[in-house]
Amino acid sequence: MRRVIFNKKGGVGKSSIAANLAAISAHRGLRTLLVDLDTQCNSTRYVLGGGVDTSERNIGTFYAQTLSFRLRGRNELTDCITRSRYPNLDVIASNSELGDIMSQLETRHKIFKLREAIASLRQYDAIYIDTPPAYNFYTLSALIAAEACLIPFDCDEFSRQALYSLLENVEETRADHNPELEVEGIIVNQYQPRASLPQRVVEQLRTEGLPILDAFISSSVKMRESHDVGEPLIYMAPNHKLTREFVDLFNLLHPGFAPIGQGADLGRDDGVDQDDTNTDVACDAGQDARDADQEEGAQLHCSAPTGA
Ligand SMILES: Nc1ncnc2c1ncn2[C@@H]1O[C@H](COP(=O)(O)OP(=O)(O)OP(=O)(O)O)[C@@H](O)[C@H]1O
Ligand SMILES: [Mg+2]
Repeated sequence: MRRVIFNKKGGVGKSSIAANLAAISAHRGLRTLLVDLDTQCNSTRYVLGGGVDTSERNIGTFYAQTLSFRLRGRNELTDCITRSRYPNLDVIASNSELGDIMSQLETRHKIFKLREAIASLRQYDAIYIDTPPAYNFYTLSALIAAEACLIPFDCDEFSRQALYSLLENVEETRADHNPELEVEGIIVNQYQPRASLPQRVVEQLRTEGLPILDAFISSSVKMRESHDVGEPLIYMAPNHKLTREFVDLFNLLHPGFAPIGQGADLGRDDGVDQDDTNTDVACDAGQDARDADQEEGAQLHCSAPTGA
């Protein structure tokens, strides 16, 4: 499944959600690719850490090659993949100079190039695409390349109003370019259950029939800590409440899987880190995961993460 994480509003959790869902997916045994299309490179840094050189291998290289005739005929995207230190998790890094070539890409109608290249990457069971806080060439490329769209929502009134325009963007993309594209759901992020405004806003959206996913992500300082150390939650704090919420979200998006917590002590509600070594759980769930995504020829790699 190819998923795009889309919201034109900044800071709603696109990169955090893309990176953490991708990390859980890989941890579950799915061969997973995270594609970062944002010049801020946040999800790239989050998953790869600071020490990995992506100056040659990044999405900018791919797009620059689409403007050149020299390498026509091969899938240049495979040359841009960086393996992360986590089993099953690869990254196509972003590049801060993507903006420089955007108008050329637009002028030369390269909007379908990402879709063509991603569709031919048969080695992945799951692809997550992180997008910039804008409805620009790269975001539209991602919406065209994806099968499903996840929309993070931060329970703010302005965000609520912006949702309708986002849904229109998705609808227009589906109608004009990508009939496969579906809104998989709206992810409520930074939810504060004790505050009345978020509850009211979410209820209103539900009443209007918007597809709010039933797995909310709380606001927790653990997220910033996870960014700070450059380690996704499933590895940094597998037993934390925030991690459990992401796992619940992942399970909701993959109804065919055996839930990751079954038979394993993941410390459901305490929000306290207990044990960082639960990689066996990923092995147990891998077959279900592959079956659910109906990909052929998948191979399960389960081993502890190696050093960067
Ligand atoms: N559930 C959460 N709890 C606490 N902080 C969060 C949560 N989700 C995201 N954040 C914080 O909010 C900030 C923005 O998150 P993130 O970078 O994921 O958003 P974004 O939508 O990708 O932003 P941008 O539009 O700039 O790319 C970060 O500092 C992140 O740590
Ligand atoms: Mg981001």
